[in-house]
Amino acid sequence: MVKQYGVGLELPFEIAQRDGVVDLVGQLPIVELIPESFFFGKKDEFLEMLKKSEVPVVIHSVEMSIGSSGEFHQKHFNQIKQVMDQVNTVFYSDHLCFTKFDGIEIGQLTTLPWTKQIMDGVCDNISKIQDQTQVPFLIENITNRFVVPDSAYSETEFINRILEKTGCKMIMDLANTYINSVNFGFDPYKWIDEINLDFVEGVHLAGGDEEDGVLYDSHGSNIPAPVWDLYAYLAAKKTPQFTIVERDQNIPTFEELMHEVKVANGILEKSAMPGLSESIGQVRREARSL
Ligand SMILES: [Fe+2]
Repeated sequence: MVKQYGVGLELPFEIAQRDGVVDLVGQLPIVELIPESFFFGKKDEFLEMLKKSEVPVVIHSVEMSIGSSGEFHQKHFNQIKQVMDQVNTVFYSDHLCFTKFDGIEIGQLTTLPWTKQIMDGVCDNISKIQDQTQVPFLIENITNRFVVPDSAYSETEFINRILEKTGCKMIMDLANTYINSVNFGFDPYKWIDEINLDFVEGVHLAGGDEEDGVLYDSHGSNIPAPVWDLYAYLAAKKTPQFTIVERDQNIPTFEELMHEVKVANGILEKSAMPGLSESIGQVRREARSL
């Protein structure tokens, strides 16, 4: 039977430094770390605390740049591995994008052209990661600032083909799905329907910000109602192995963060009740057809 970890929190560096973080970790069934924040022995004592607490950890890197065709950043991966080895890592993930081109740092998660050539490069890089890790690897959908014209595939086709070719899993970031649906004007429920959910083992929930009518994935506010609705819709179709609430800016009190964890748990529990998941799905389908 597939292990269900439940709902946890991302622990950015700012949270790692706060008083009470040991108690916070004690309340969580799983946590997520961005390894680049902990390179070079930074906050080693925090990683030791996590190890001792036995809390399962999702290592979620931001700079492996798996979309850089023909470039595998082995040095960077070795540093990530060091952090993975310092805690109880149960999953490793990064984003389906590129952050480096010809070895030069771009400084942000950048949308890939959804083409066969790029797909092959991504699959090569994923295989190299899978060959060097003991835990499942997952890719995450990003917020697109643009879409490359004349791509051969839709985003969902591109993702599905990579999942099916490599056997890697997916973190579905529903905040990113929602933001893209608003910025590019598509139906996020249909987007979820198009993804092969057999591969979706993780979910990210977060809040964003709006500027001049455009939404951004700032991770700087509470999770908005449309993202909760998408979560209920997904949970009715598939129980992910883990869900992570992500908050990197304007970080509130631990009580407020735990409130969002509890709301997510409530949605998961309801969706696990016989018959209710059907009715949630039905409500969402009806809402979409309005
Ligand atoms: Fe995310």
